Amino acid sequence: MTTLKEKLTERDYLPVLKMADGREVTRENWRERREEMLALLEKYSYGHTPKCPVKVWGETLEINEKMCAGKVRDEKVRISFETEHGVTSYPVELFIPKNIKKPPVFLLLAFRPVPDRYIPVEEITDAGYALAVVVYTDMVNDAHFGDFSDGIARHFGTTKDRSSEEWGKIGMWAYGASRVLDYMTEYRSDVDVSRVAVIGHSRLGKTALWCGAQDERFAAVISNDSGYGGAGSSKGGCGEFITDFIEAGSDDWFCENFKTFIDREDSKPYDQSFLLALVAPRLLCVGSALKDVFADYRAEFLTTLHASSAWELLGERGLICPDRMPIPGDLFTDGNVGYHLRDNLHYLSREDWNAYIKFLNVKFK
Ligand code: GCU
Repeated sequence: MTTLKEKLTERDYLPVLKMADGREVTRENWRERREEMLALLEKYSYGHTPKCPVKVWGETLEINEKMCAGKVRDEKVRISFETEHGVTSYPVELFIPKNIKKPPVFLLLAFRPVPDRYIPVEEITDAGYALAVVVYTDMVNDAHFGDFSDGIARHFGTTKDRSSEEWGKIGMWAYGASRVLDYMTEYRSDVDVSRVAVIGHSRLGKTALWCGAQDERFAAVISNDSGYGGAGSSKGGCGEFITDFIEAGSDDWFCENFKTFIDREDSKPYDQSFLLALVAPRLLCVGSALKDVFADYRAEFLTTLHASSAWELLGERGLICPDRMPIPGDLFTDGNVGYHLRDNLHYLSREDWNAYIKFLNVKFK
């Protein structure tokens, strides 16, 4: 049987612990390597992120004390911040269990607002977590092919004629999620901002990773079925390629430079493992689904394993797992890098939520 080490050698991912000029990465120059990997991801994949706004504020729109049979306070807030082109605002919904003082938080980048069958509010809050939900299209639309006319895009003056390194929608959604953390840090003494996990599924799994990679205030980063452009490298994989993103209408998720790698994907000067390594030494959990062919669980798993060297360098345990490919039902929680695989297709299932709750329970408590 091929060992995991042999499988990684076959994939030939770019080394995380080697500088572009060939120097070995050590604990002493880790920050320098971090900056280098961030710069590569900005330049070739997600585009540059603007500076944080000076101030973020929130206005409570509605409070419902009766959520989950009265166990949960449900508060709708509109958060706002100044940009060069005026104030931008979008809603965030907070679900806070009443029986816990300062619960840790899942900050979910969501496709739709609650109620939604993929957002089990009662299970999450019963497990002792608060939940903050930000719907991605409230921050900027996800229309096909270069519509930058609303929300964060409009307020930062991004247009269809972006320059090659200008940010795309993933960058904007990630930026928007960080502003929710700004708001919670400043105004929400009822949650524990030192234990916030940013989580997303699919394109929003890519977004959660890019958000947590840049913003080191997030204690944990969780990617569900994020696939290529997220937790999985396309190198040696059997999932999707850049043209698939574009066919899916996701022309503007990444920066323009990203498209120059069409049909030469393996020549990229960075690898998705760089994105994951930027989370080190904090908590990372990657979840995959066996039959999610596009997201390619093997690539997600091996890329995560490869990135795990960053945790080891920094004195933490990375991904601790048996020497075999994962099987459905696996959940690895021993190291600071978690991984889980379930059966079935591409969605954020209860089984995924339960795995992430278990992972965080082990780590946070
Ligand atoms: C498309 C795209 C994927 C993406 C997915 C989603 O299938 O090609 O990369 O993850 O949409 O977000 O649902």
